[in-house]
Amino acid sequence: MASRRFASRARRPLHRELLVSPYPELGLVASDGPSDPLPELVVENGAVARLDGRAAADFDIIDRFVVAHGLDLGVAEEAMAIADEELAHMLVALDVSRPELVRLARGLTPAKLARVIGRLDAVELMLALKKLRARRAPSNQAHVTNLKESPALLAADAAEAARRGFAEIETTVGVARYAPLNALALLVGSQTGRPGVMTQCAVEERRNLELAIRGLVTYAETLSVYGTEPVFVDGDDTPWSKAFLGAAYASRGVKVRFTSGTGSEALMGYAQGQSMLYLEARCLAAVRAAGSQGVQNGSISCVALVLSLPGGTRAILGENVLAAWLDLEVASGNDAIASHSEIRKTAKLMGQFLPGTDFVTSGYSVMPRHDNTFGGGNFDADDIDEWLTIQRDWQVDAGIEPVAEDELLRVREQAARAIQAVFAELGLPSVTDAEVVAATTGYDSSEMPDRDRAADVEAADDLLARGVSGLDVALALDRRGFADEAEAVLSMQRQRVSADYLQTAAVIAADGVVHSAVNDPNEYSGPGTGYRLEGARWELLQALPNVVDPALLAGMEEAGEPIVVERGESARGDDPTEVVVAVGPAFADTIRATIADLPHQSVLAAICDGIRSEGAMPRLVRIRRVADVAFIAHDGARLSGSGIALGLQSKGTAVIHRADLEPLDNLELFGMSPLYTLESYRAMGRNAAGYARGKRVGPVPTELDNFARAKLIVTTTLLHARETQAVRGGAAAVELELAAPVASTVASTQA
Ligand code: 5AD
Ligand code: CA
Repeated sequence: MASRRFASRARRPLHRELLVSPYPELGLVASDGPSDPLPELVVENGAVARLDGRAAADFDIIDRFVVAHGLDLGVAEEAMAIADEELAHMLVALDVSRPELVRLARGLTPAKLARVIGRLDAVELMLALKKLRARRAPSNQAHVTNLKESPALLAADAAEAARRGFAEIETTVGVARYAPLNALALLVGSQTGRPGVMTQCAVEERRNLELAIRGLVTYAETLSVYGTEPVFVDGDDTPWSKAFLGAAYASRGVKVRFTSGTGSEALMGYAQGQSMLYLEARCLAAVRAAGSQGVQNGSISCVALVLSLPGGTRAILGENVLAAWLDLEVASGNDAIASHSEIRKTAKLMGQFLPGTDFVTSGYSVMPRHDNTFGGGNFDADDIDEWLTIQRDWQVDAGIEPVAEDELLRVREQAARAIQAVFAELGLPSVTDAEVVAATTGYDSSEMPDRDRAADVEAADDLLARGVSGLDVALALDRRGFADEAEAVLSMQRQRVSADYLQTAAVIAADGVVHSAVNDPNEYSGPGTGYRLEGARWELLQALPNVVDPALLAGMEEAGEPIVVERGESARGDDPTEVVVAVGPAFADTIRATIADLPHQSVLAAICDGIRSEGAMPRLVRIRRVADVAFIAHDGARLSGSGIALGLQSKGTAVIHRADLEPLDNLELFGMSPLYTLESYRAMGRNAAGYARGKRVGPVPTELDNFARAKLIVTTTLLHARETQAVRGGAAAVELELAAPVASTVASTQA
């Protein structure tokens, strides 16, 4: 036997992924691996004799580095003596401060750090992250690349990213030689969108450092570290060489953070039988020991491997918490594709999105996924409206701002024009007007005119050979009349000299002021403290371009010719062929059409038509005392000579009722008003008449639209509010007459 439901689920995107059970021998275990060492620290004569199950003589390069430069033996004895459960409790206790936890972390071994994190559940990890994040306010980082390495499109996308509030924007290259041109496009585009945004062009370290020294980029996060010696060495490095490189960047005024993340050791074949979280604790201890201000972590490119295992999402959040606990700025993953499933991807995202991290994604793809040469974006250009809506739903700031289309078009065009001018001034192959237009309004790089790629890479080599610097770029902009952009590019050179942005979690505001853990620290200690999305920022993040003002919606219909006239209070009829059509208080008055946009006069005509066609007599009344369709119909039935009435709310919901039934009982209920046509109302009229004439009546077939509610609930609310506003408590029903009966009957027969 086979279940068609299992078959249906198997076709969902989720099932393109492979889930596996843990296989600790190969490091395929997310956390708390069976071979992870027990925390251990033995200090003899002021020197570490044993660390996490190993004697000093057996230390590998990571142990050696952490012991030499990371572990603070001044607090180690005190910190290591605290039980795992107690430390875990302190991470979430609101009366234990971040500085106190950071102080203790410096004395904890990697195994201890990993075990304590392993004690926290998902929500506790989120609380710990909210508490331990370095900077007060969260922010975000963007990816800007495209398959054609089009400079105009790179500049326009960088400008859009900057204008949308990303604090850092990075690019990379498909072809290595493009690096200087891509860095240039990002620099000019970013400063056009919003002065102060930092940029990176992730390439091989030598060139990376050179671009930085030239002032074409301001940050680097290319320095990978790994949790086992063989993987580390495979990357042609040691912790010492990485620390040296980190210092090289920082000493030249370049903001630098390391990169690490769960899963890399297993992926690269030397996990040494240990869990991903434990190995990541070793990485983070090494990053701390190297003196870096921060880390890009949370599995990063290995995310899909970690998510194949039980507890993978939790372990990734755990490593982010661990990094923050070690006082490192955290640019938290969410950049590489984590899953084919939108639900699963978003569920994972919430771990960082809700508590907030220094950079909620370590690269949000501002362009469509296929143009992301970092290897596809987990969240991309097409997801921005969802991201903005989720921020608005949770009242959470995850670092992206809504911006109107015309403003983005303006900014994109300005950036494309600016890079066109810089290319011309610096003697680079020209950027055409057609490129500017396509970069401004296009969807992706397939719409960009092709460039002479051989000429571009030659010009890129030449640009480096000529020693063109950030200052030259500012001058070029200035000569071509881009004064604001020139000033912003120059100001980035100034920032590099003052280097305030080397502080932990630094970002540069539009006014040039650096916000970091030093001058704007996270001091969250419970409700009412720390960063909260409120005031002007909350106003901004609420005001999505697609949000409409309900006051305008409710006032949209114009009053017109009267549809009905009132003819005095109603009394009970005595004609047994009579069917009352009882309408709501606002019907054909302050509301003049149903939610399906059927004019009320046509609806009445169709119903009356239907009633007459079954040999009964329609009689119109207005119920004024209630807006509830059950009572409208029941009141009508009690006035009806046959005891049968069709009750109708102004939005089009209908009930066929009988006088002897309880008000909340009925003969037929028609609750899907958005779906009804005039033919539906005619059928309702026929059925009501059928009941009055004592015929056998088959219920009108009903349709179901399960999304009608989500789509129309606001309009329903507004229409119902207008109906209830028209209610006059205790008022008797009144007789109605169609103001123009002939015309509307014709309309209804045609419909
Ligand atoms: N651990 C270490 N480095 C990683 N990178 C991506 N994921 C990881 C990880 N889990 C590296 C990339 C690139 C840099 C930006 O980060 O290989 O060199
Ligand atoms: Ca990144």
